[in-house]
Amino acid sequence: MPPGLSVTADFLALYMGVPGTLGRPRQCNHLVDFFQMNYLTGKHILLGITGGIAAYKGAELVRQLRLSGADVRVVMTAAATEFIPPLTLQALSGNPVHTDLLDPAAEAAMGHIELARWADALLVAPATADFIARVAEGRANDLLAAVWLACDAPVALAPAMNRAMWENPATAENLATLQARNIRILGPAEGLQACGETGPGRLLETDELVAGLSALFQTGALAGQHVLVTAGPTREAIDPVRYLSNYSSGRMGFAVAAAAAEAGAQVTLVSGPVSLATPAGVERIDVESAADMYSAVMQAVTTADIFISVAAVADYRPADVAPQKLKKESADISLQLVRNPDILAAVAALPDAPFTAGFAAETEHLETNAQQKRRAKGVDMIAANQVGAGLGFGREENALHVFWETGEQQLALADKGKLARQLLDLIARQFHDSHHQGKILKFHAKDST
Ligand code: C5P
Repeated sequence: MPPGLSVTADFLALYMGVPGTLGRPRQCNHLVDFFQMNYLTGKHILLGITGGIAAYKGAELVRQLRLSGADVRVVMTAAATEFIPPLTLQALSGNPVHTDLLDPAAEAAMGHIELARWADALLVAPATADFIARVAEGRANDLLAAVWLACDAPVALAPAMNRAMWENPATAENLATLQARNIRILGPAEGLQACGETGPGRLLETDELVAGLSALFQTGALAGQHVLVTAGPTREAIDPVRYLSNYSSGRMGFAVAAAAAEAGAQVTLVSGPVSLATPAGVERIDVESAADMYSAVMQAVTTADIFISVAAVADYRPADVAPQKLKKESADISLQLVRNPDILAAVAALPDAPFTAGFAAETEHLETNAQQKRRAKGVDMIAANQVGAGLGFGREENALHVFWETGEQQLALADKGKLARQLLDLIARQFHDSHHQGKILKFHAKDST
């Protein structure tokens, strides 16, 4: 039997850290809410359809994904277009369907790299035995296989084939190869097949595929942890109607808070003035000035395991706030500014500091400046990005170069939501490592007394 697990058992295994054979989650009431949360709203879902009879179910799958709030694009293999017309999927997804690897028009608009970069997740359903074999081998001989190879977002496939093909050791080996590469296998189900035989190889039901896809975002990597995030700009009052501020939109911080909640954390978001909706499952505290943000953070940080400082905190504030609106009486006026507290550095210096991660927006010498900032502030991790000349602030996309004491990683230009999920993966890994190291150090310290 190939090593495919059912969606629910697989997810339970991931979330609970137990073997994926514990039974169905609806028997575990305390997990029901977690399972039923929809993490597809606003996500870019790339749906790959390959050439099996179950391809016709792609129409209902696209409909359900859109009902879940996802933005869906469909990529079809040539064989899939024989089972269901691309026009049907174009109408249901509201986006053009992509079929050709070497289509000059498509390459100019959304070629395989753009599609892969666009995707927050890729689901191939149904996945034929041939497609599974091709991607296990690393081929890129049609558009869907090329997109698969270029995609650095989470990937799932839902096999559908005749039971003998499913049970063939070649298929089992290919599936095992893909599972070892972190590909999530959804299904297959057992039952009566289109070929008249009965057994494993049926495509999962649409609602199970949607739930399995949503579960891709619920990594559980920060389950049980309290994550404190700051976001947005601060406003430093000059008089009752004027302030100093910056162009931060808060998008990156909100995306980080959303990604932390998806990773299973309890999340507190301290936000400066922004016009963004609070992400699902996040507790939000609104503040105005750097001083307000400092107080709110210092209060919330006492229970935090991880502090992620994304806010563009004003470094200076007017020394005095005029009690009445300033009049334009003279040709020039001067404002005296005083330094604001550095919230990130203050948290990192706490005796019982949480794991700390900060951002460094740089206009030049990105790596040197970011590393210097990390050491100067005493933080565990710093995510640097280039700003200025149309980059960084206020944009939908960003690219990051992340540094920590023993390593670094570049995160390619992507939508801020996708980038935040990749950053949270890195933070979770470093957090667990440092926790582990801390325990070892404490153990040795105890040992030597
Ligand atoms: O020194 P710089 O402002 O470039 O450092 C940026 C990092 O420090 C960001 O993570 C930002 O949220 C944090 N910061 C802070 N308090 C300040 C200034 C920056 O927490 N007053």
